[in-house]
Amino acid sequence: RLDVTEVFHGISYPGHLHTQDSLHHALKFPFQDTDVLIVSYPKSGTTWMQEIVTLISSRGDPHLSQSSPNWTRAPWLEQYYCADLLKSSTSTPRVLTTHLPHDLLGPALQESKARIIYVSRNPKDVLVSFYHFHKMANFLPDPGSFPEFLHQFLEGTLHFGSWFDHIKGWTSQAAALNLFFLYTYNFTNLVSSFLQRPLLEHELNNCVKHCSFSCMKDNKMINYSLIPDEILDHSKGCFMRKGEIGDWKNMFTGEQNRYFDTVFKSKMQDCILKLVWE
Ligand code: PPS
Repeated sequence: RLDVTEVFHGISYPGHLHTQDSLHHALKFPFQDTDVLIVSYPKSGTTWMQEIVTLISSRGDPHLSQSSPNWTRAPWLEQYYCADLLKSSTSTPRVLTTHLPHDLLGPALQESKARIIYVSRNPKDVLVSFYHFHKMANFLPDPGSFPEFLHQFLEGTLHFGSWFDHIKGWTSQAAALNLFFLYTYNFTNLVSSFLQRPLLEHELNNCVKHCSFSCMKDNKMINYSLIPDEILDHSKGCFMRKGEIGDWKNMFTGEQNRYFDTVFKSKMQDCILKLVWE
């Protein structure tokens, strides 16, 4: 059933992809030092980073990214199909994705040299993207009105938990992990250095071209058009919606913006990074 919610350590997850077993399994995941782990709060650029990492690994050749869906080449380790998929996978390095918070995944990563890419985005844009996604995703609860959704985001009661706890949890442990933190949009060359996969100029240009919003929007291996309508209702929206910085300005009222800023200031006081977004 699509509308089932799995609550795990106080956070809700969509039950059509997460089970108590799969979530427990993630906590004990045997990371290898060669693994690449993409970490994000939903709607922060996860899919984009999956594409970038795929393209860097193939030195800009789009064959894999155009023939294999993103959830098979960079599976979410907390989702139920991950274990089986990895058993049959021979790809090196393994690329994994997670939306889990650090306090759950941290113990499995202790002592690991796995390369972690933490992708973040202006939380106001995350919120707007997540709101629209809730309207088309039948496995997520009805988002209600935008003011209600905004309140739940700030309270941390949406599926996948609090954006604030997520970013603070992961960034506070950055020094103990092999973690690369991203909060800008122009980053393909930075990621290739972090992965120690230096690229020739034309290879880098190919990566940039194939992971552009327009290319990804048309690539059915990454644009989620393969997902049937009963799961993602394509008549209600598009996964590759706008891909813009600052779309929140079209949605927030002045009052909602002040409410957001007040909560942001108070909750981010103890964040070790001083993050400023447009
Ligand atoms: S998910 O469901 O957590 O995996 O979603 P996620 O991939 O993190 O975020 C989806 C948003 O990222 C936008 N996107 C891009 N923007 C710019 N360039 C590229 N190449 C790109 N690829 C994905 C996507 O459009 C979603 O944002 P919105 O604002 O809704 O358009």
